[in-house]
Amino acid sequence: MQWLITIAVVLTALALVAIKLYRFAKELGRIDSAEGSKTSCHGCPGSSKNQSDLGIAIKPLVQLGDKTKQGIVAIVFLNTSIWSLGLSQEIRPPNYDESKASNYTLVSVLSGPDGKRIESKDQWPAQRRYLVELFATEEYGFAPKDPVSIRTEVFDDAPAVLGGELQANIRRRQIAVYLEREGRSVRVDLALWSPKDRSNAPCFLGLNFRGNQSTCDDPKIKLTSSWCDNRNPGVQNNKATESSRANQSERWPIAQIVAEGFAVATAHYSDIDPDYDDGFENGVHGLFPEHRIDETNPSRWGSIAAWAWGLSRLADVLEKLDGIDPQGLMVVGHSRLGKTALWAGANDPRFQLVVSNNSGCGGAALSKRVYGESVARINTSFPHWFNRNFRKYNDREETMAFDQHQLIAAIAPRSVYIASASNDKWADPLGELLSGYHASEAFAMLGLKGLEAKELPAVQTPIGQGSIGYHLRQGEHDMLLYDWQQFMAFAKRQGL
Ligand code: GCU
Repeated sequence: MQWLITIAVVLTALALVAIKLYRFAKELGRIDSAEGSKTSCHGCPGSSKNQSDLGIAIKPLVQLGDKTKQGIVAIVFLNTSIWSLGLSQEIRPPNYDESKASNYTLVSVLSGPDGKRIESKDQWPAQRRYLVELFATEEYGFAPKDPVSIRTEVFDDAPAVLGGELQANIRRRQIAVYLEREGRSVRVDLALWSPKDRSNAPCFLGLNFRGNQSTCDDPKIKLTSSWCDNRNPGVQNNKATESSRANQSERWPIAQIVAEGFAVATAHYSDIDPDYDDGFENGVHGLFPEHRIDETNPSRWGSIAAWAWGLSRLADVLEKLDGIDPQGLMVVGHSRLGKTALWAGANDPRFQLVVSNNSGCGGAALSKRVYGESVARINTSFPHWFNRNFRKYNDREETMAFDQHQLIAAIAPRSVYIASASNDKWADPLGELLSGYHASEAFAMLGLKGLEAKELPAVQTPIGQGSIGYHLRQGEHDMLLYDWQQFMAFAKRQGL
């Protein structure tokens, strides 16, 4: 608000200066004409007033009729008003009032590009493609289709050390994954833990925020050298320091995951694309300079699409590794990386289960509810996450001809798990549940069971007996052991 007042004051000052200048110019006009020709302009409109204090006969430099003058004043006034109105279009404050969040209509997940409803299972693959294309066009952007070559280097393969103890049953691998194209190369470090005695473990794959070293206290995990956010602990000059080890280990309960028979793999999201607005030069965007998003190509990939594309490249690697079930890949992510997991899952059918944890706006939450974070807020705070087209919907969610339930549906017939947290209103827990609920029509058409509840379940009470699961964890925006326990139980029910 303060800056609005500042703008108003500046505009008024400018207007006053303009008036003064105009009067001064008029005065000059009088003197010039008086000194130059010493003639007066009798008969000119307003000439009766054309008499200077010096008693010199006067004549304006440019002679304008009253109508013209009024016109100019009106145009200036109109322009200024429109300009200040435009500037004053502030982002709406976040809504947390449920009564204001229910007035919207959604397009059915079975509605095709021509608005016709699809009726049979054999139409689903085409409908799925349409939905993925819709989200690429309107929200996340298209990743390039050109291949990259992938070179890997296993630089560590040994039993893990967790909590200071050697874990004979947990095989730890670290793999440098080089994504290469036309002489350019991006290195992504993949850390993988798998049950030593299992030849084909289903594997959770998810990106982390702070580097692989932040996921556990194993001193052998390579410290990330990629960009880190200075606001995070253990970061100096955008570089992780030794003190960042294990500082997000509560999000990665590795020992418990492997004890359940699963493998878990992670990589630092900054290895794929540093999370700041650099004009899409660094990270994997830099591998495809000719595919950069700009005003004339508003549907090219943003950072979420880049992270999702990176997850698929890591899947390329994982599906060839011994000890991992190539048919058992699952993608998981928290918050912005939950949005990423959903987009990766919608694009890449190798992910048999897609887990969205507290993904909120641009993730599982319905945008049209306009509850918590809005499209305008996310596009303003994080201008590099989505494509340019998504900005059309800033504070205009009612004009969206799509919503996030269609993204959940685009994953069908594979399984989806949506997790919310009770105090995470910013991510809109009910909006996250409702996406699953409205996506269920597609699962039902495919003979699968989705979510039946339209209302939030009690906290710590997972729901969903079919292909979509949901829970509302008690607490804050985070991904904790409780969440993982539900993901794993659900994965097992899906036969993974
Ligand atoms: C911000 C952002 C969210 C995002 C979250 C995160 O809060 O507004 O959309 O999910 O960061 O990634 O932690």
